[in-house]
Amino acid sequence: MASDYALPGSVNVSRHTSFWENNHDGTNSIPSQLLSGGSEIWIFIIVTLTASVLLCFSRSKTNDTLKGPWGFPILGSFPFLTHYPEMTLDYWARKYGPLYSLRLGNQIFAIVSDPSIAKDLFVTNGAVFSDRKEMFVKSQTVFAGRGVTATPYNDRWRKHRRIANIWLCQKAVDSYTKTLDFEATDMIKALYMDSKGGACHINPQTYAGRCSLNNMLTITFGFRTDSIHHPMVKEALRLSREFMNTTGPMSNLIDFVPLLQKLPTPLKLRGQALHRDLVATYGGLIKDVQRKLLAGVAVDDCLAKTMIELKEEEELDDVDMAILASAFMIGGVETTASIMQWFSALIPAYPEVQKRAQEELDRVVGRHRLPTVEDEENLPYCHAIIKEVERCHNPFWLGTPHVASEDFVYEGKLISKGTVVVLNTWTMHHDKKRWSNPDNPSEFNPDRYIDDPTLSSTSANLSDPFARDHWMFGAGRRICPGMMVAEREIWLTIARMLWAFEMIQIPEKPIDLKEYDGLSGRSPVPFEIQLKPRFEGVEKVLQL
Ligand code: HEM
Repeated sequence: MASDYALPGSVNVSRHTSFWENNHDGTNSIPSQLLSGGSEIWIFIIVTLTASVLLCFSRSKTNDTLKGPWGFPILGSFPFLTHYPEMTLDYWARKYGPLYSLRLGNQIFAIVSDPSIAKDLFVTNGAVFSDRKEMFVKSQTVFAGRGVTATPYNDRWRKHRRIANIWLCQKAVDSYTKTLDFEATDMIKALYMDSKGGACHINPQTYAGRCSLNNMLTITFGFRTDSIHHPMVKEALRLSREFMNTTGPMSNLIDFVPLLQKLPTPLKLRGQALHRDLVATYGGLIKDVQRKLLAGVAVDDCLAKTMIELKEEEELDDVDMAILASAFMIGGVETTASIMQWFSALIPAYPEVQKRAQEELDRVVGRHRLPTVEDEENLPYCHAIIKEVERCHNPFWLGTPHVASEDFVYEGKLISKGTVVVLNTWTMHHDKKRWSNPDNPSEFNPDRYIDDPTLSSTSANLSDPFARDHWMFGAGRRICPGMMVAEREIWLTIARMLWAFEMIQIPEKPIDLKEYDGLSGRSPVPFEIQLKPRFEGVEKVLQL
C-alpha cells in the first residue's frame, strides 16, 4: 500500500498544481496534496483506515484479478486524481500494467493503456463495452438523460446517433465543405486584420473558437456569427467552457457518492443552471427555426430542421432536440477549436518545422491561392504536423468512458458489470515502444507521421491497433461520429495558418504548454503570439 504513495516533498497546491510534482514528463511520481493537508485530513485517514481494509476485502471478492491502487473509504482514489489525472493514471499504468482497476466512491473503474486491449474490449467486444454510466452531473443533471454523448447503450442512443449521423457522415460533410472552407478563410482574415498585419500581438483562441462555432451553428441551426463580438460567440463559448469545467470522467466526487447528490452542492447547482442555459439557448434557436418553417420562410438544411421534420416519426420531445443540438455545440466546438489552439500555442517554438511545412506549401500550392481539402494528400508534412499536435495534445486524455454492460472475463481477469472503462490515451500516446523514434515520446516531432497518409477516421479502422495514428477520437461503437467534419475543419484552418503566417513567440510572453484549462476537455491557458504575414501577396489572396 504505502509504496503507491511515497511521502512528498513540498508542493505548491493551486488550481493547476498536480498531485504529482514536476511530472509532466511522466518520470517523477510523488503524490502530495492529501498528505500536506493538515491534521484534519490525517484524522480522517486514521478513522477510516479500518473501513478501508474491509473495503479492500469486499472489492477483492468482486474483482479479484484486476490489480490497482488502494483507495480511501468513500473517496477511493479520488484525491489523487483531482489535478492532471492523466499523469496519475500513467504512473499507475507503469506500476500495475496496461489493464488495472481503481475505485472512486462506489464506482469501480478499469483503466486501459494498451492498443490491443483497447481493440479487444471496445471493438471486438463492442456489444459489452459500449454503454455509458449516467454520471450525476453530466448525464443526469446537465443532459437530463438525453444527448447522444452521454446516453446508455439503448434505443434512445441508437435513435440519436442515427439522427446525428445524417449530419456527420461523409456525404453530409462533403455537402457543407464549402462552409468549412469559408469559415477557415474568414478566421485567417480576422487574424490578419485584428493583428494589423502582424504589427500587434494576438491571442488566436477566440478566433479558433468562433471558427468552429460558426461551423457548428451552420450545421446545427443554419446560421453564423459575423464577428467575435457577436453575443452568441461569448455565450456559446461560455456554455462549452462551463461544460468542460463541470463535467469530467473522474473529476467530480459527487458522481460517485450518491449521498452528495442529495445535497445542494455548488456543482449540482452549476449543473442545473447549465442545463437551463443550454435548453434556453439552443432550444431557443430550434424554436426560431420552427417558427420560420411554420411561417413558410425558407430555412437552410440543418440538424434543427431535420429534427423538426422527424419529430413525430422519431418521437422527439423539445428537450431531446435541445440536448441533441447541445451535444453538437459542445462536442463540436471546443474540441476542434482546442486542436487549433494547441497548434497555435505550440508551433511558434518550432520555426524549423514551420519552415519545412511552408517550403512544402510553396512547392505544392504556391503563393497565389490558399491550400484546399484536395491538397492534403500532396502535403504529407503539413498532414503529419496535425497528427503530431493531436498525439501530443489530445483534448481528452481520458476520452469519454464506456461501461461494461455485463460481467466479462478478459485474459482471466474479471471486469464486472457496471465497471467504467477508461481509455488512458496519455499513456498510449507516450508509449516508448511505439514512439521511440527518434527517442523521446514527449517531444513534438511531425516526422513520426511522415509515412502515414491516412485520415484519422480511416486509421481508426485499421486491423492492427498499433498502426492506428492516435486515440483522440475514442474507440468502438461510441467512437466520435464527428471525426470527419473535425478533421476537415482542422486541416483547412491549420494548413491556411501555415500558408499565411510565420508564427512567432513573444520573448516577454512565454507560453505555458504544460498548463491547461478544463476538466473534461483541455485547451491551452491564454497566450499571445505574433502572426507575421509570410509574403506581400497574402493580403491579396485573402481579398482584404
Ligand atoms: C478534435 C475534435 C474532436 C475530438 C477530439 C472528439 C473526441 C471525442 C471522443 C473522445 C468521444 C468519445 C468516443 C468514445 O466513447 O470512445 C467523442 C464522442 C462524440 N463526439 Fe467528438 N470529438 C471531436 C469533434 C467532434 C465534432 C466536430 C462533433 C460534431 C458534432 C462531435 C460529436 C461527438 C458526438 C455526438 C459524440 C458521442 C458519440 C456517442 O456517444 O455515441 N465530435 N468525441
